[in-house]
This record gives sequence, structure tokens and C-alpha cells, in this order.
Amino acid sequence: MNDFHTSVFLKEAIDFLNVKKEKKYIDATLGGGGHSFEIANHGGIVLGIDQDQEAIDYVREKIKDQRSKIKTWERLTLVKDNFRDIEKIAKINGFEKVNGIIFDLGISSHQLDHRERGFSFEGDSMLDMRMDKNLKIKASDLINGLTRKELYKLFTRLGEERNAFFISEHIVKYRKIIPIQTSAQLISIIQDAYKIPGENISSFTKASIAKRVFQALRIAVNDELNNLRESLPQALSLLADRGRMVVISFHSLEDRIVKHCFEDFEKQKLGVIITKKPISPGFSEIRLNTRSRSAKLRVFERIL
Ligand SMILES: C[S@@+](CC[C@H](N)C(=O)[O-])C[C@H]1O[C@@H](n2cnc3c(N)ncnc32)[C@H](O)[C@@H]1O
Repeated sequence: MNDFHTSVFLKEAIDFLNVKKEKKYIDATLGGGGHSFEIANHGGIVLGIDQDQEAIDYVREKIKDQRSKIKTWERLTLVKDNFRDIEKIAKINGFEKVNGIIFDLGISSHQLDHRERGFSFEGDSMLDMRMDKNLKIKASDLINGLTRKELYKLFTRLGEERNAFFISEHIVKYRKIIPIQTSAQLISIIQDAYKIPGENISSFTKASIAKRVFQALRIAVNDELNNLRESLPQALSLLADRGRMVVISFHSLEDRIVKHCFEDFEKQKLGVIITKKPISPGFSEIRLNTRSRSAKLRVFERIL
């Protein structure tokens, strides 16, 4: 555990990656470095990628702090970039044939907890949600700029929200009066859209609706599904014989992409699916880290 992020499936990921001394690995989603440090501590040499400069800075500082104590932490190369270009990033950094690659998708606790990043629906913050601060479009740009139909599609497809029609209608009405800039504004619009006369919606229902709407916006701002779709085949091409790809996802849209991609790889006889069914966290992991509740882990092994 670290103060930036509590890693999910730490032990399982390392076991599946089958980490060997002096072999190379890529951590495509560095975050707080939990998986990277664990691979390095098992003797692996790691390329850690993250599109969020704050993750890179955090891990860089951590390496500095620990350099004198733990030599293995020097085995980390850090790159601020999008894993959508994983093949190019790997080649530039001398990781063109690796024994394992891990993707631990979504956002870190650091990103969620730092309100100014705008990922959280708790409290009040500006609707930003960019993992990479150089991205041009923020969540507030989508909320204020998309048509009602586009918002409806967004909440339906990326949030799987069944009341998307009313929510998008309320957004369009509200923003005619004043632009929607903050999470509190958006939450109150969602609540209005859901209002059943004479009934109060429970705080649990409110939270799950907000979660779906915020998830949809976050996925769109960061183009998360396309990033994943584009990077998995590239990642496969970087794996050495018997090299493994471990993917941890947090919602069904991501998991579906991973599942279908792995099935395609297998059909093309590029290797085998190691996890016939996705691995879910055990009771003790969920108790320690509630964020792990929806996690699913899938593994593919390349055979050349
Ligand atoms: C769940 S956290 C990873 C946590 C990390 N495994 C750990 O144990 O500390 C996901 C990280 O992936 C990064 N990320 C998400 N999509 C990315 C992408 N397309 N390219 C690069 N980094 C990405 C996020 O910025 C975030 O820091």
C-alpha cells in the first residue's frame, strides 16, 4: 500500500507475470508504482508508463527517497506518455521484447481524491477529469458543448445509464441559463432529472447514478476505450515467447474489450488465454480496498 494508490491484485499480477530476474517488463499504468516496484523487487527491469505527470513525479520522488536503501528500485525507467503508443514508447526505451506487460486500468486513488482533478462526485470541484493535463477537452466542455442527442448517447453507451434521456434533457435546459462548470451543479441536475414526485431517492441510488454519469464523462474525456483497443494488439507484439499480458479492468465496457481481444488473439493462434474466466478479488482484498470490488483480471500468454 502507498499514500498515492492502493494496488489491486498485487500478488496475483506478479504471480501471473511470472517475474524472472533480469527480464524486462512494462507497467503501462504506473500510478503510484505499486506493481512496478513489486516487479523490480522480484528482480525484473521495468518500463513504467503513465499519462499523468503527477504519477511520474510521485514515483520519481519515491525512487530518490529509497535509492540508498533498496537497490532494485533503480531498475525503473519512467515515461510520461499514453499507452496508446506503447509499441513506439517501448522501442524508444529498449523494451521491444519483454516477458510481461501489465495494464491496471482506470484512475488512481490520488486522481480521485484530489478534488481539483474533477473526477469525484463527492464534494464540489470543477468538472475537469483529464488524466493528462495536456488534453484539450475537459468534462465541462462536453457537458456544455455536446448536443442533447450526443449527451444521451454518451450516458447510454459509456455509463450504461437508463435515465440518460431525462439527464441529457435537464442538462440542456439548465445550461441555457448558466454554464455547468462544477460537480455540484451536475449532481443537482441529475437529482432533478431523477425526481419522482413525492419520493426522495436514497443516497445509495443517487451515488450510483452519479457514478455512471461521471464514469461516462471520464471515459469520453480520456478516450479510454479506444486507447485500450489500440494498445492491446501492440502490447501483444512486444511480448517474447511465453511472455504474458495481465489486464485489470474495473467496468464491463473495458472487460468486454479485453475478453474479445484475447479471444481474437487465440483464434489467430498467437497464444493462449490463461484465465478462462476472469479472476475476481477475494473477500479480504475487498474488505481492505473497496475499490477492488469491481476489478477483473485477465491473462494472455503469447506463443511464438
Ligand atoms: C489504477 S491506476 C494504476 C495503479 C498502479 N498499478 C499502482 O499499483 O499504483 C491507473 C493509472 O493509469 C494511468 N492511465 C490510464 N490510462 C492511461 C493511458 N492511456 N496511458 C497512460 N497512462 C494511463 C492513470 O493516469 C493512472 O495513474
